[in-house]
Amino acid sequence: MASIPDARPESGAAREDQVRTIFSEIAPKYDLLNHVLSLNIDRRWRRRAVNELQVPADDPDIRVLDACAGTYDLSLELTGRPGFRGRVVASDFARPMLVTGKDKLEGAQVSPVCGDSLKLPFPDGSFHRVMVAFGVRNLSDTRAGFAEFARVLRPGGRLVVLEFTTPPNRLMRGAYLFYFHRVLPLVGRVVSGHPWAYTYLPESVREFPGPEELADQMRDAGFQRTEWSWLTAGIAAIHVADVSKDASSPSSG
Ligand SMILES: C[S@@+](CC[C@H](N)C(=O)[O-])C[C@H]1O[C@@H](n2cnc3c(N)ncnc32)[C@H](O)[C@@H]1O
Repeated sequence: MASIPDARPESGAAREDQVRTIFSEIAPKYDLLNHVLSLNIDRRWRRRAVNELQVPADDPDIRVLDACAGTYDLSLELTGRPGFRGRVVASDFARPMLVTGKDKLEGAQVSPVCGDSLKLPFPDGSFHRVMVAFGVRNLSDTRAGFAEFARVLRPGGRLVVLEFTTPPNRLMRGAYLFYFHRVLPLVGRVVSGHPWAYTYLPESVREFPGPEELADQMRDAGFQRTEWSWLTAGIAAIHVADVSKDASSPSSG
């Protein structure tokens, strides 16, 4: 397959523009491709992420941020849980993603906000939980993103991050790389009509730090306790990181 230079992830401000452009342009086909290309496994992963949030039931004061929310699948996984009485703020900087998903929000306690996850438009300590599915890999500065998530969390708050990884097992990795670098860009291009968005996806996963390094970055950003585990033979990983109950205490790793 001929290489497509535009698909290489940029850095800094150019990365922000590149990512906003990609998601704005593929928004109408995003949901369909998401479920088809992941063979629907993404739904199971989102369920797991919401389980890890451990949101107390029947508490109308609970506020949850879904950062890089896209078309709200993670937000809706949470608000659809029996006993959830809180409020979800779903932020994303690609307005077409928020607009495309809006029909799914009917009756759900989800407030969309168009905003950058690196400069969240919320005061310190605004949320009890922050959740991010397949978003942090796209940030131009993941460390700055984690610092921002820590800032908007209350003392004792929790961050849950779901992200693609490269499987550690050699056999699995071979099959995965073939699918990710050969099949996925082709199907993505045909269905979305976008020439390179689905080439960007595997490229962005390839250059993304592994789960250990991501956990280190979370600790550096001030999270007190971080845990992670592989999902589906290491195709994805889930991270859970807590803010200290005593906001003034230093992080203890
Ligand atoms: C792969 S999609 C994931 C969407 C959704 N969380 C899901 O699980 O389907 C990544 C989303 O992150 C958003 N995004 C990337 N960088 C962002 C940033 N700096 N600020 C806000 N949103 C961002 C993109 O616009 C896109 O909607």
